[in-house]
This record gives sequence, C-alpha cells and structure tokens, in this order.
Amino acid sequence: MNKIRLGVIYGGKSGEHEVSIMSADSVINAIDTEKYDITRIFISKEGWWTIAGQPLNPWDLRSYIDFALPILHGPNGEDGTVQGLLKLAGMPYGGCDVLGCSVTMDKIVAKKVFASEGLRQAPYIAFTDADPVEDVIEKACRELRFPMFVKPSNMGSSVGITKAHDRDELKDAIALAAKYDSRLLIEQGIDAREIESAVMGNNVLVCGEVGEIVPGAEFYDYNDKYFDGNSQLLIPAPITEAQKKEVLNMAKRAYKACGCSGFSRVDFLMDKATGEIYINEINAIPGFTKISMFPRLMMAAGMKYPEIIDRIVELGYERHHAEDHR
Ligand SMILES: Nc1ncnc2c1ncn2[C@@H]1O[C@H](COP(=O)(O)OP(=O)(O)O)[C@@H](O)[C@H]1O
Ligand SMILES: [Mg+2]
Repeated sequence: MNKIRLGVIYGGKSGEHEVSIMSADSVINAIDTEKYDITRIFISKEGWWTIAGQPLNPWDLRSYIDFALPILHGPNGEDGTVQGLLKLAGMPYGGCDVLGCSVTMDKIVAKKVFASEGLRQAPYIAFTDADPVEDVIEKACRELRFPMFVKPSNMGSSVGITKAHDRDELKDAIALAAKYDSRLLIEQGIDAREIESAVMGNNVLVCGEVGEIVPGAEFYDYNDKYFDGNSQLLIPAPITEAQKKEVLNMAKRAYKACGCSGFSRVDFLMDKATGEIYINEINAIPGFTKISMFPRLMMAAGMKYPEIIDRIVELGYERHHAEDHR
C-alpha cells in the first residue's frame, strides 16, 4: 500500500498560534508512520508558509502532499480561510469545510443558527465597535442580568473574553474585546457546569463520551486552559443518562445545522440550579493534544488516538470525492 503523504498545517496567524503547535506536535507524534508520510507545514505568526523549513507557496501544496490536516485554532485557520485555499487547490483535507468553519468561528452567526434550530442558549446581544458604547451598555443592562460575558465574535481560547460583574467592568470588557474583533457580543452569564461533547462524521454522525470541565479559575479562561493546569477534566461527566442523551442530541443537531463535517467539539453550559442545558459553541478544530478533551472523549468511546486521525482522513477523502462527483 502506498503511504498517504499527509501535511499537518499548524502555527498560524492567530492568537492561538502556540496552542496549535502543541496540538500539531501531539498529532505528529502519534500518527501511524506505516500509513502516512508526514510533512510539517508551518504558518508563521506573520502568515508565511513553510514546508520542512523551506518557504512554501500554498498553491504548490499539491506537489508535496496528498492530504492536508489543518490543526490551526482561531482566525485564519479554523474559520474557513485555509479550508477555502485547500478547496481551490483541489486538495482533500481533514475537518470541517469552509461553511462549517466559518459559521462556527463567528459566535454571533453560530448563535443565530442555533436559535433557528430551536436550541437553548444564553440570552445575548450582538453589536459592532461602530455602535455607541453607552447605547450598548444601556441595552445590555435592560435585557440581560449580571454577571455578563463580553466576547469578540471571532476568537477562541477565551482570548478577549471577560466576565463583567457590573456596569464599569462591562465598559472595560467591551474595550478589551474590541481589540480582537469589530463584531462583539454580550451574553448573560449562567452559573453553570461546563459540559463538552465530541462529534465525528459527514452525514452519519458518531459521538464520543460526554465530558465535564471543572475550571480552576472563576471561568475557563486562557491561563486556565493552557498554563495554570488547575482545571480538571471529568470523563465521563457525572450527569444522568437522560442529560447525556439530551447533550448528544443537541450536539448532533447543532453540528448539522452549522454545516459541520469531519469532526468538531460541541460545548455546553449546564445550569447548576436547574440542570438545564444550553449550547455554548462549536469548535471546528478543537485542541488536539492527547490530554485535550476532544481526543479523550473519542478515546473514552473506544477509539485509539491514531484511529481518530485515520477516521478524520477517511472523512476528508469521503467529502472530497463526493464533491468531485457533483
Ligand atoms: N454565558 C456564559 N455563562 C457562563 N460562563 C460562560 C458564558 N460564556 C462563556 N463562559 C465561560 O467563558 C469560557 C470561554 O467562553 P467561550 O464562549 O467558550 O469562548 P472560547 O471560544 O474562547 O472558548 C467558557 O468556557 C466559560 O467558562
Ligand atoms: Mg469555549
């Protein structure tokens, strides 16, 4: 059998550059070298592409690899831009396509899609940095209760997100979020447990276990995610069978509604008092280190780490061939 020349695309022009490097290293270390010839395709923080250390024009990818696996988090990678380039270049690739990536990357658009699917989510208001801040604060105080979460619409890893407890904090939080994106949102805070699920598939969907994150900080912020290490992952999440069923049902509906394919991690908030489940977000390219939630949820459901990668490659080829025959 000929080996598949697989290019792992990582790094990237995003605030999550370092996280992407950690994920890509895990994938590269675990991948089955009997089946794949691995090539590292690194994108610098400035957006320059290199292959095995040499400058690369991304249009030339097809001369070097058969299949691309973008392990990029955040803007310029998890948002459909790199996927669009790969699609135009005729290159099969792993994970969500242009649509799934762009819809899930933009928190405001994703929320509108979730709403159209009738999925429960935290009340929110959306605005842009062109809107007068005082009007936004007025509206937020009228429609939502404190604490509130202020977020840039396009980011990840909690970058630019603040939990605001009062009007003053809200103002600072908006200023911070606006450093990262012109599209912004304020969500009503829910005193919640954080529940995460893993979904794989193009048309037929398979779910992993359901997990819970117990944040070490007041919320699951950037430091807690990657540095403090005080957060805990509980797999399986200590929830009832009925709750787990509801989570997975909502996860699959959200995944389909957003046009996801390949794989994604679908995240929820579960109200501590009522047990009600709210969809929070979908991560088209979730953290992929061996201790990251997505691979661990699939492993808990019986897949081995290298098998997850195999399946992502199969699903990428399947989608590519389906598109080719249209
Ligand atoms: N409405 C909310 N209520 C309670 N906690 C929230 C809410 N929104 C976000 N959080 C907290 O902030 C974290 C990051 O927010 P999230 O929307 O998941 O952004 P990111 O894309 O950066 O992961 C969540 O994991 C959670 O801890
Ligand atoms: Mg999140």
